[in-house]
Amino acid sequence: MLNDRSSILSLLETRRSAKPRELVGPGPTAAELERMLAIAARTPDHGKLHPWRFVIVGDDQRDAFGTLLREAVVEHDPCTTIAHHNKEDEFAHYAGQLVVVVSAPAANHKIPVWEQELSCGAAAMNLLLAAHALGYVAGWVTGWRAYSERVRAAFCEPGERIAGFVFIGEASRDLEDRPRPELSDVVRNWQP
Ligand SMILES: Cc1cc2nc3c(=O)[nH]c(=O)nc-3n(C[C@H](O)[C@H](O)[C@H](O)COP(=O)(O)O)c2cc1C
Repeated sequence: MLNDRSSILSLLETRRSAKPRELVGPGPTAAELERMLAIAARTPDHGKLHPWRFVIVGDDQRDAFGTLLREAVVEHDPCTTIAHHNKEDEFAHYAGQLVVVVSAPAANHKIPVWEQELSCGAAAMNLLLAAHALGYVAGWVTGWRAYSERVRAAFCEPGERIAGFVFIGEASRDLEDRPRPELSDVVRNWQP
């Protein structure tokens, strides 16, 4: 069973994301989302810099998000067709709650940017875990949209970047697991 919430360990051992395009439902309530974000904000963070932001895209902002993506996709690929525009509209209107996770490292700080970016990734992961712990499923995606300057500017201050679009909703079908690495492939005993 995936996303087995019967215990903390079982959830950690079975957590599985969903594809954002396959989510259904309105997603978490405002109170649940706030709880998820509070959990996500309890993330290891060298220097107490909280070098990340969570930008909530409300239901009433999805149309504007779609307009932004349609404008951006033309810059991304000047040969876009109506099908591409429709795809952007679909992305902007995926079910559930959308949180854009932004990496916001402090520049010229003694804490290396690399460590701050690691913290941002961990914050996004904690957001996923919190969503799953509250009985939802989430999906973290990037793609060209995360690297588009136009999209970046709409969500980020200078020096910040998009770490991912996290959609939180309910699964529309039974999830299947994906292959996981053999521990022997990723674990080593240190040989001095
Ligand atoms: C930084 C980052 C970006 C990702 N971007 C995409 C993406 O654009 N499209 C996609 O299908 N999966 C993407 N993934 C993978 C999914 O979020 C997810 O991790 C993967 O489907 C495995 O899910 P699970 O291990 O959480 O079950 C990305 C993962 C990370 C960490």
